[in-house]
Amino acid sequence: MAAPWFAVMYTGATPVFVDCEPDTWNIDPKKIEAKITPRTKAIIPVHIYGHACEMNSILEIAKKHRLRVIEDAAEAHGGEYKKKLCGAMGDFGCFSFYANKIISTGEGGMLITNNDEWAEHARQLKSYSFSKAKRFIHDEIGYNYRLGNLQAAVGCGELANLPKYIERKQQMAKSYEKGLAGIPGLRLPITKPGVKNVYWMYATLVDEKKFGLSKDALRAKLKEKGVDTRDFFYPPEEQPVLKEIIGGERFPNAAFAAQNGLYLPSGLAITEKQIDYVSSTIRAIAKA
Ligand SMILES: Cc1ncc(COP(=O)(O)O)c(C=O)c1O
Repeated sequence: MAAPWFAVMYTGATPVFVDCEPDTWNIDPKKIEAKITPRTKAIIPVHIYGHACEMNSILEIAKKHRLRVIEDAAEAHGGEYKKKLCGAMGDFGCFSFYANKIISTGEGGMLITNNDEWAEHARQLKSYSFSKAKRFIHDEIGYNYRLGNLQAAVGCGELANLPKYIERKQQMAKSYEKGLAGIPGLRLPITKPGVKNVYWMYATLVDEKKFGLSKDALRAKLKEKGVDTRDFFYPPEEQPVLKEIIGGERFPNAAFAAQNGLYLPSGLAITEKQIDYVSSTIRAIAKA
């Protein structure tokens, strides 16, 4: 799975990483300012697993330091923070429509901004920066980042389904919450006040001591019972491609989440019966 820092690096800029909050796994606003230097251009909050970042604090920091805010809402289609949509609070919002996203067009994505000039520039860049005056004259280096018309048509159709999909995701979360309640050592996802969580993934943390098994051991046992799960994202220090940028820096909250986190089957096609099966299987493993 690609990450926003790829896009940063494509431009020749250097991504600077900030550790996440231990409860939402989103960027921790309290740790941002220490990372800002005169070379900093933008903050890129990623709304992880469908839960919005603490945007008021982030926007305030950005204003104070005259930085742009580029929201990565790849995992939070339709998610909200204090009644505002994820992707629509910063200078730019980025969305992925990759196959595993809430709305998918197979591949592709979308960039939004309220700034007409930037929108026009982005349109040009996405299509080889053809000059407006003359096709095949290029004003600058551009890219082929076009979303095909067929995919766009699927996306428009899917947009109408988004409220239904979000409802389904939220129902899934409720059912997991009920099915998994009270299992010692299993931490269920939280939703902060004012946030509309769209639960792209139902993400849990395993406390090895209290649960009796590590996250990896639980994943293996679930696999034996026919339940596939996924690891969380890995911290920057585990990415070979970031070795030179990161040096010896460590991101303990991200590392803790990666070591102990797993997400449960969360696709839109999951049935209540399957959620029951996953929940009761985890409960039985915990008891054993
Ligand atoms: C938070 C986040 N940002 C960016 C991406 C990349 O999107 P794409 O694969 O459409 O380039 C993904 C997932 O693929 C993601 O989860």
